[in-house]
Amino acid sequence: MKKLILSLIAITLVLSSASARDIKKFNANWRFARFGAMPDGSVKAEPKNMDEADYDDSDWRQLNLPHDWGIEGPFRYDLPNRTGKLPWAGIGWYRKSFTVDAAAANKRTFIEFDGSMSGTQVWVNGGYVGEWPYGYSSFQLELTHYLKPGEENTIAVRLDNKEESSRWYPGGGIYRNVKLITTEKTYIEHWGVFVTTPEVNDANATVNIKTEINGKGNNLQLVYEVFDGANKVASAKVKADSDCNITLANPTLWDLDNPHLYTLKTNLLEDGKVIDNNESTFGVRTIKYTKDGFFLNGKKTKMNGVCQHHDLGPLGAAINVRAMERQIEILKEFGTNAIRTAHNPPAPEFLDLCDKMGVMVQVEAFDVWQKKKADNDYAHLFGAWHERDLRNMVRRDRNHPCVVMWSTGNEMIELQKIQDAPLALHLRDIVLSEDDTRPTSFGLSRPEALFSGWAKMADVVGINYKPHAYAELREKYPDLPIYASETTSSISSRGEYFFPVSDVQREGVGGQFHVSDYGLYASPNGYPADTEFKAQDEHDFIIGEFVWTGFDYIGEPTPFNKDKTNLLNYADPKERARVKEEMKKLGNKIPPRSSYFGIVDLCGFPKDRYYLYQAKWRPELPMAHILPHWNWEGREGEVTPVFVYTSGDEAELFLNGESLGRKKKAQYEYRLRWNDVTYQPGELKVVSYKNGKEWASDVVKTAGAAAKIALEADRATIDADGEDVSFITVEVCDKKGLMVPKTHNKVTFSISGPAEILAVGNGDPTSFEPYQASERKVFNGMALVIVRSKKGEMGKVKLTAASEGLKATSISLKTE
Ligand code: GAL
Repeated sequence: MKKLILSLIAITLVLSSASARDIKKFNANWRFARFGAMPDGSVKAEPKNMDEADYDDSDWRQLNLPHDWGIEGPFRYDLPNRTGKLPWAGIGWYRKSFTVDAAAANKRTFIEFDGSMSGTQVWVNGGYVGEWPYGYSSFQLELTHYLKPGEENTIAVRLDNKEESSRWYPGGGIYRNVKLITTEKTYIEHWGVFVTTPEVNDANATVNIKTEINGKGNNLQLVYEVFDGANKVASAKVKADSDCNITLANPTLWDLDNPHLYTLKTNLLEDGKVIDNNESTFGVRTIKYTKDGFFLNGKKTKMNGVCQHHDLGPLGAAINVRAMERQIEILKEFGTNAIRTAHNPPAPEFLDLCDKMGVMVQVEAFDVWQKKKADNDYAHLFGAWHERDLRNMVRRDRNHPCVVMWSTGNEMIELQKIQDAPLALHLRDIVLSEDDTRPTSFGLSRPEALFSGWAKMADVVGINYKPHAYAELREKYPDLPIYASETTSSISSRGEYFFPVSDVQREGVGGQFHVSDYGLYASPNGYPADTEFKAQDEHDFIIGEFVWTGFDYIGEPTPFNKDKTNLLNYADPKERARVKEEMKKLGNKIPPRSSYFGIVDLCGFPKDRYYLYQAKWRPELPMAHILPHWNWEGREGEVTPVFVYTSGDEAELFLNGESLGRKKKAQYEYRLRWNDVTYQPGELKVVSYKNGKEWASDVVKTAGAAAKIALEADRATIDADGEDVSFITVEVCDKKGLMVPKTHNKVTFSISGPAEILAVGNGDPTSFEPYQASERKVFNGMALVIVRSKKGEMGKVKLTAASEGLKATSISLKTE
């Protein structure tokens, strides 16, 4: 390709438009039915001819996408714990009638799925259009030759979720957005605009743009316009077979504190008339990985990262932009600056949000390659599909400034057992052929793989769970950048504490399938957060860590997995025997169905560990946090250890006004502990200090009896677009308004006005209550109600919460 350097001086462009691309949301008014494994455990035969245009679907359920049929429940004891005990497996059909303009006869029409779980097959007017099996990939299929322009058309989509195809809750259904796209016969290829900034200095940035075109036309040209907000700051016109370099003067860089974005508008011209267009945002930033660390815009930056699975708690896998934004807000609030999308590509909107909110992302492709981890997982698809899936991932996401690294996989058996090096290089080559501006990586945990030197097949060495081996691994990989791709696997339930408090891992596993929130316990591959902090601080060359996990997710309820892979993850044989016995008594009724790993629970409510990370990752934020709660009726006079997490370096603890001593953090100490406190009701207060000066404080008081309900909305006004949601926190309080910790009252909700209750939750990983309901028990004092607006309906909304024996309350919202 020829290279043209064009100056910043804006060329005056008058674009006359023949026509351009038409993009329509294709989410509304589908009909849906399930077959095969049904939610109630029965099996329903799949009739024939459901792909045909005239099939009678009039009794099918009507719904809008995105849709996750698994989250509708019910939870069932006979379903596997590790995939959430929800009925996501089975067959689902979606059908929809639609018309396209008569003019489409001379155009090309495509359908684009951002993600569909899974085994998607598509028919239009009875003709088989194509398929895409991997549930996490975005893909496009061409409908042109199946359509009847100007008439009614029917699309039928079949999904098939095989059981045992995932190690966590995958969801089921067309759970991301769908669009219908019409272009001229010659058009800009799907994800065909690739924008990079190969040179950035204080004065200028070079913006390089490559555009792929499908079809041949007369005198094809490309016109590029770069906008900074509403201002056009540069433009250029080139022949369609040329790539283009535009110089941007005084660029504002994309950074974590100021995630500045530019917009690139691309127009394809034939004989001077616009025949297609494309809009993408991009950022100007530099990333550099060295053996000494990671540099963003020339500044060494530690990745304080978390791994995240894709579900949105009570909303399941069905995407909702505000729910994703809230997740990222919560993660940022405790100091997260990087996210690993474990172990699959995310929704495209997730990356738009990370671009805007200043969070770095490692986008990951797979959990397995050729060798399976579950009987029906991606290993079956890998041979035929890995290249297409990998290319789609990179091509879709390569313009996002937030994306700083690609991962081709997680703990793949091939590499863990040192069997297939060329395969790793083959995947790396595919990624780099689509984008050579970011490094590739993968995460390995087995020492034999890590120490064999096999991690060299990535550009950046990803290490899972080896904080004690960083120095040794440095020797093995002296020149490569190294980071901790997965760390800690700490586990806890919000608001649960068991005594005596022991530092022995897994002794914090208490009754009722909960794990103590003292922050000392982890799964067998893991360790407490502090261990990783120390290793990171001692080895400054490590780029950072990705904690397993930011949010709790549905499925994988270690240490209570009653699955083949890790039945009862207890190292201590006595503990293992005890729980095994307990499980035998319960028969198959083992309730845990979502994870305990999260720093926050499934509703986004902080566990105590949230504050441990906030103290470490946001050292400039004055904060102190006391745990546990102080309602221990019946434990008067008993030892009840008190821990304090603070961004200060010293703290003094008071019980009912009496000092229990001032303590200072030693080197590599990240929490302050008063191990011998004897419980008496009243007030615990901590005052923390930094460099000898008062810095922050926290108070925890013994609450009285539960008397009333408190409601608080994260946003009181939401858009009346039928998608926006308000998250309302429900607390059971005493008469003074203090949350009462160990309460489990059932709260019933009613709503009036133009909004609906979309889901409820409480963060209890053992609860079998449905998410789609208008009542919920609080779990340790708290629950969540998610309220969604109705499209085009504006007005006042009132949500009322009532519970037997408590004073009812309500909250007003507005949709506009
Ligand atoms: C890791 C794995 C994660 C999760 C975690 C639980 O080895 O990569 O997906 O299973 O263990 O501790």
